[in-house]
Amino acid sequence: MDQQLICADRTVIVTGAGRGIGRAHALAFAAAGARVVVNDVGTALDGAPTSETPAQQVVDEIVAAGGQAVANYDDVADWDGARRLVRQAVDTFGGLDVLVNNAGFVRDRMLVNLSEEEWDAVIRVHLKGHFATMRHAAEYWRGEAKAGRAVDARVINTSSGAGLQGSVGQGNYGAAKAGIAGLTLTAAAEFGRYGVTVNAIAPAARTRMTETVFADTMAAPDAGFDAMDPANISPLVVWLGSSESAEVTGRMFEVEGGKVALAEGWRHGIAVDRGARWDPAELGPVVAQLIEKGAEPEPVYGA
Ligand SMILES: NC(=O)c1ccc[n+]([C@@H]2O[C@H](COP(=O)([O-])OP(=O)(O)OC[C@H]3O[C@@H](n4cnc5c(N)ncnc54)[C@H](O)[C@@H]3O)[C@@H](O)[C@H]2O)c1
Repeated sequence: MDQQLICADRTVIVTGAGRGIGRAHALAFAAAGARVVVNDVGTALDGAPTSETPAQQVVDEIVAAGGQAVANYDDVADWDGARRLVRQAVDTFGGLDVLVNNAGFVRDRMLVNLSEEEWDAVIRVHLKGHFATMRHAAEYWRGEAKAGRAVDARVINTSSGAGLQGSVGQGNYGAAKAGIAGLTLTAAAEFGRYGVTVNAIAPAARTRMTETVFADTMAAPDAGFDAMDPANISPLVVWLGSSESAEVTGRMFEVEGGKVALAEGWRHGIAVDRGARWDPAELGPVVAQLIEKGAEPEPVYGA
């Protein structure tokens, strides 16, 4: 624990923090001085239940290094579970300053083969799993603000390139992650009045979720920088969780290795307005002109 304690005295919830990127966030927040609620229900990669308790292992690591942490096993997409998670932070550590929404799983399939159950499960865990925790945390922060107590709180959501640019074979996951990007904008606009900023990241790192995608970089390099180490994602998230980021809200950052990029989302683009209704047959050349003059879309992953 030799880094600057930029999150000293802050209480942080990290969801899905038993493994992968969430685990790296929990360890990094603890190393920056935060008290951490390590949430993880301990699912398999496809969301199936297991008997594993990775949250406790991460808590043990933090405590062994001299930090403060407590485990939580609630399902983030369960309404009462999300409420209990927020309550546990407040009851255990006396408040809540940062919510990092990170938990989730994948059930990849081409849209033409995707089942209703696979759609519902992935939308639920990511999109509802972000909303449910954020909703209960926001209610807590609004209560604090109304009671006249200073709130300097943060939400950091986890989107994905699959949501920002699209990804073949990940229609359910990409839709949930695009939803999270949109939810971040509205939440940032609504929660500012309570002293809460809301930002999101689109990370890329080697975890069980991406083992096959990043197969060529599975082995860490013999020496030097391992660009796909999940721990590379956490410094920006810790900074966003600190008091120093108070001016930053409603933003999306793409993070990978040593790279931090500010993503540009949907914007109003080039337009033609004739001030009257169009006849459908007239629109071919109009659309062709817009596409010719407008910006090229980013390529879809895997296309
Ligand atoms: N790894 C990448 O390159 C990458 C890229 C883009 C986005 N992401 C996103 O980053 C986040 C972390 O992914 P990861 O790669 O570390 O995956 P991971 O599978 O290693 O970790 C996800 C954790 O979430 C937990 N979890 C699943 N459902 C849960 C629930 N309902 N409640 C509580 N915990 C639950 C799992 O048990 C697991 O420990 C995810 O939101 C993922 O979509 C990852």
